[in-house]
Amino acid sequence: MDDLRIRPMTTEDLAAAERISDDAFYELDVATHVPGRPRPERRTPERSAAWVARSARFLESDPGGSWVAEDASGVVGFASSARREEVWFLATFAVEPGRQGAGIGAPLLEVAVEYGRDCPRWMLSASDDPRALRRYHRAGLRLHPQMTLTGTVDRSTLPAVSGVREGTPEDREWMDELDRRLRGGPHGPDHDSLADSTSLVVTAERSGYAYARPDHLAVLGARDATAARTLLWECLARSGDRFEIGHVTSANGWAVEIGLDTRLSLSTSGFLGLRGMDPPAPYVHHGALL
Ligand SMILES: CC(C)(COP(=O)(O)OP(=O)(O)OC[C@H]1O[C@@H](n2cnc3c(N)ncnc32)[C@H](O)[C@@H]1OP(=O)(O)O)[C@@H](O)C(=O)NCCC(=O)NCCS
Repeated sequence: MDDLRIRPMTTEDLAAAERISDDAFYELDVATHVPGRPRPERRTPERSAAWVARSARFLESDPGGSWVAEDASGVVGFASSARREEVWFLATFAVEPGRQGAGIGAPLLEVAVEYGRDCPRWMLSASDDPRALRRYHRAGLRLHPQMTLTGTVDRSTLPAVSGVREGTPEDREWMDELDRRLRGGPHGPDHDSLADSTSLVVTAERSGYAYARPDHLAVLGARDATAARTLLWECLARSGDRFEIGHVTSANGWAVEIGLDTRLSLSTSGFLGLRGMDPPAPYVHHGALL
């Protein structure tokens, strides 16, 4: 511990940070696995590459937001965060398994939070790790339980949906304006990371948007619950064998209703950590890009 050094993350650190995050989250997923839910899996090479690409973008957009902890053995932990106008968010935070609970995370989170000090709003999506929750509480965030809905969609329950179309990069401007109202800042450069791994659907009247894949909803923002419902139904209609709606707060009862009505299973999973704001709605946040 004596030789522990906290320094800004560089592109040379990305591979080590990716390995630490995969190891740390896999071990946590195994330790907290709920019977009946899909078994934890290691990241696929495709997901590892997407993780590195996303983190590399943070180094470009927010050079002061990502930090590593290093000792004689090399990089042992990291935190990456970003500012989008009024909102600061923590994207990822992990310490090598075996080194956790020994005071490495505390100084890392301190420097990441310092980067967001001037932002009136803070957001992060916390795992169920009690060490993480303790750190976030001590940093001044309020923790709101998150719900997850998973399973196979019963298509016979889906209503016919109209007024939605594929989104394009031209939609980003009004989506950013909507996100300013919903959470205090646009997704801005994060649209590229979202578009890399998901498809975008929007309402024709520009009242909401959703990034999703056939197996999960990544993020959904809308002007009102009617637009939010329409978009979620559309994502469910495009689902494959299994679909997951994660990161649902109690402020978004419309998403719980739809998930249960389409026969998905409801459980709790992690927390939305906030400071200076209430849980956004109608909004289902992204785990790392919030
Ligand atoms: C979350 C994480 C990054 C924190 O880093 P860390 O080095 O373990 O954190 P620290 O040791 O600095 O702080 C942990 C705190 O939890 C406490 N703690 C340790 N074990 C605990 C336990 N089983 N239950 C409750 N609190 C515990 C520690 O005492 C310390 O609190 P204190 O400083 O007030 O005494 C790390 O544990 C980790 O990688 N976890 C798995 C991945 C993860 O969940 N990341 C967060 C994603 S949101």
